[in-house]
Amino acid sequence: MSQYKTDLPFARKLDTADPLKVFRTRFYIPGNTIYMDGNSLGLLSKDSEITLQHNLEKWKNLAIDGWLEGDRPWFYYAEEIGKLTAPLVGAEPDEVIATGSTTVNLHALLSTFFKPKPGKNKILTDETNFPSDIYALKSHLKLHGLDPDFHLVMVPAERDGTLSEGRIIKQMDEDIALALFQSVIFTTSQLLDVATLTREAHKNEILIGFDCSHSAGVVPHAFDKNDIDFAFWCGYKYLNGGPGSPAFIYINKKHFEAEPLMAGWFGYKKEKQFEMSLEFDHERSAGGWQISSPVILGLSPLEGSLKIINKAGIEQIRAKSTKLTAYFIFLADQILAKNPYNFYIGTPRDPDKRGGHIALKRDTEIRKINKALKSRGIITDFRPPNIIRLALAPLYNTFQEVWEVVYALKEIIEKREYMKF
Ligand SMILES: Cc1ncc(COP(=O)(O)O)c(C=O)c1O
Repeated sequence: MSQYKTDLPFARKLDTADPLKVFRTRFYIPGNTIYMDGNSLGLLSKDSEITLQHNLEKWKNLAIDGWLEGDRPWFYYAEEIGKLTAPLVGAEPDEVIATGSTTVNLHALLSTFFKPKPGKNKILTDETNFPSDIYALKSHLKLHGLDPDFHLVMVPAERDGTLSEGRIIKQMDEDIALALFQSVIFTTSQLLDVATLTREAHKNEILIGFDCSHSAGVVPHAFDKNDIDFAFWCGYKYLNGGPGSPAFIYINKKHFEAEPLMAGWFGYKKEKQFEMSLEFDHERSAGGWQISSPVILGLSPLEGSLKIINKAGIEQIRAKSTKLTAYFIFLADQILAKNPYNFYIGTPRDPDKRGGHIALKRDTEIRKINKALKSRGIITDFRPPNIIRLALAPLYNTFQEVWEVVYALKEIIEKREYMKF
């Protein structure tokens, strides 16, 4: 028998027992909405507002001196934000830097880690990877004079849209130089087995990196323990850093001596940067992969939001996240699976194999149904061909909201509300 029930008082009971419930009050929830789009853009917190305001005041009052004076001088700010993020991914403080933007960071990482040699010159990825990552991989193949049609090996998805780690491992041939996967797949929310993929890649002398945009801040990682080579992720989803927030780079410390080949002066040895040498000598930390001046106002909201994430604790966040997704799956199975509802779950049912969002599928009218949800103030997103993504952000979403969304979907179908769109 399931531990869950379908009635509203039961959802409220889950909220009452939720150890993270206090955090919702720290966030601005857009008026009269149920916001389930935190895997596209996380919400603004009061804490982020405070840290942004703080740096605006510093700019107002200290101007240029803000770089080296006051609390948290800007010259070290990207490293400080990196340090706050390191515990979320199982890294040492100097292995994470907040810098650049997601795709730019991938380019910077590929400049170092993709070193094709005759007989070992292919990149392994999969066809569910995010398009921007694929574009970057193809660019680097072309930069090396290689043909993406031949040198980019794309593992196909299974029939249900998920990836099979076994099938990925089978493709880890001798001629693969580098492998890149998402930790959590942006469509299905499948959480890949990072440890096993890394172990198998290394057996075949393949360097492996992960795009953790859909796991950072909601799924704990153990990068050092797993010994992955590099990772990158955005700041604007579960990290709640704001629209276009700076992103992150993780470099395994064993690679600190490797050369950043998209070099810029902010990657120079920190304490000697202003000697203005014309010979680049990078800082032996993830900071060495910075290129330009850190975007201080962009980084500022991350300071506040990371403090609440660390206060809540990534293990507690993950515990609530798996409970929210399990509860959604339970309700969807009970209420939305039968005719005429005909919804089904596109996310793995094993909690160890799923991330923070749910892929709800239906073979017809799904785009219109997503619009009907929006007209009721329920913010989700649609991903072609047949997925509504619902991000259940543990710091601000509630079990009652999950209940309300499932019952809203039921009514949308019963009243054929989607026909209006
Ligand atoms: C998984 C994943 N990778 C990469 C990106 C690209 O991010 P950016 O626009 O910050 O380069 C996104 C954007 O949503 C994403 O979801």
